This record gives sequence, structure tokens and C-alpha cells, in this order.
Amino acid sequence: MLEETIKLLEEYNFSISEQREFLKIVHPIISHPEFIKRCDNKVYPHHGNISLGEHIIKDALITYKLIKTKKKYQKANLNIAVLIAMFHDLYELPWQNSPNKKHHFINKHGFVHPIEASINAISWFPKYFKHLPTANIIIDGIIHHMYPFPVRRIPQNISKIEINNLAKYKKLPRKYQLLITKSTNNLKFLNLNWSKSIYLEGKVVSKADKLVAFGKELRNFKALQACITGRLKRL
Ligand SMILES: [Fe+2]
Ligand SMILES: [Fe+2]
Repeated sequence: MLEETIKLLEEYNFSISEQREFLKIVHPIISHPEFIKRCDNKVYPHHGNISLGEHIIKDALITYKLIKTKKKYQKANLNIAVLIAMFHDLYELPWQNSPNKKHHFINKHGFVHPIEASINAISWFPKYFKHLPTANIIIDGIIHHMYPFPVRRIPQNISKIEINNLAKYKKLPRKYQLLITKSTNNLKFLNLNWSKSIYLEGKVVSKADKLVAFGKELRNFKALQACITGRLKRL
């Protein structure tokens, strides 16, 4: 995935020093087998012919650029924000072939995938979650990345939320289960949580995610610049 990432960095006009800084953060993640699996657009297609892995990397690239160029986000911790972006959609199964057709509406992919992603991120990349205050920021950012779209609230009985990696959740140390649960319970209505991330790092990833998903123009640096400067109003 390194080659593809470098290609994207060049496409988005990252300088050599920016490329180095970005790759230092993401390299351990893009070389993980679970991430590599998600870079095959036949197995994990995302939007159009873009793979889930490519979508995630683009989100991280834009997160990086937003922090470097937007005053609003300049106080965000770059490292933590890029990590949130790299983890935000590491859900269990491709959403197009999701077996959860019979799931209750509020347990559909759109509402529960941030919970699955946080569980997978902690399970596959435990070293980033060792420092609990940092883990809290990362988890909160993953959980609320879909904002203003809500996320499923975790009820007392976790089995009710019909996630695809429940067994993995049950194996997590209690401190992480509590952080995930707490994050989904701060602004609840109709068993959904409507809050944005309370941390700047989470907010910038959520913004980047919208820009990637809705901005088809973001295939080159000019378009990226346009969305950062806000000159393309439709973005
Ligand atoms: Fe998502
Ligand atoms: Fe996303």
C-alpha cells in the first residue's frame, strides 16, 4: 500500500517533508494485513471504484491538510487526528454485502459501523490506545465521525446493537468498553447519539470525511485547495 499512498501524496501535492511526516504516522497502519485487505476494491468497495482503504487514506490526507492550512483546526494534535482518520472506517464487513439485512433500522451499517471501527482499531492497533487520555480522544473521534449523522447508542446490553464484531468487543479490556460506551451516550435520543466529537481532532476528521465523500472534485490538489479555502461553495 506504500506505493499507492505515495502516489496519492503526490496527487495532493504534499511536499517531500510533508510526505515524510505523513508516512511516519500512517506506515504501521497501511502495512497491517487488515488494512491491506480493505484496499482491494473488489473485496471492500467504497464509493464507485474506490476501495475502502483508499477512502480512508484520502480522509487522512485531507485531515492533515486541514490542520496545516485552516486556522480553525491548527491547534489539533496532528498525530492523533491522522490516526483517527486512519481508523474511522475500519468496520468489519463490506457494507455493500452486509449480512445484516434483517437488523433493526437503528442497527444498520450507517449507525453502527463507527462502533465496529473503534473495536477493530483497539484490537488491531493496541499500541495507540495504551495512554488512556489519548485513547479517549481517538475513540470519541471514531465514534462521532459521521456527524451530523447519528451513531447507535450502546445500551446496557451490548448484544442489542447487532454489530458484526461483538465477540471482539467482549474480549476488550473493560476500560475500552467503557470509553466506547461513554462516547455513544452523551447526547442520546431514540437510541441514537446525535453529538459531534467533543475534541478538535475528531471534528476535523468528521469534516474531512464529508469532503472526501461528497467532493468528487477532490481528485487533485486544486480541488482540495478549493474546498479548504471554501471557494467552491457547493462543497
Ligand atoms: Fe464512516
Ligand atoms: Fe469515511
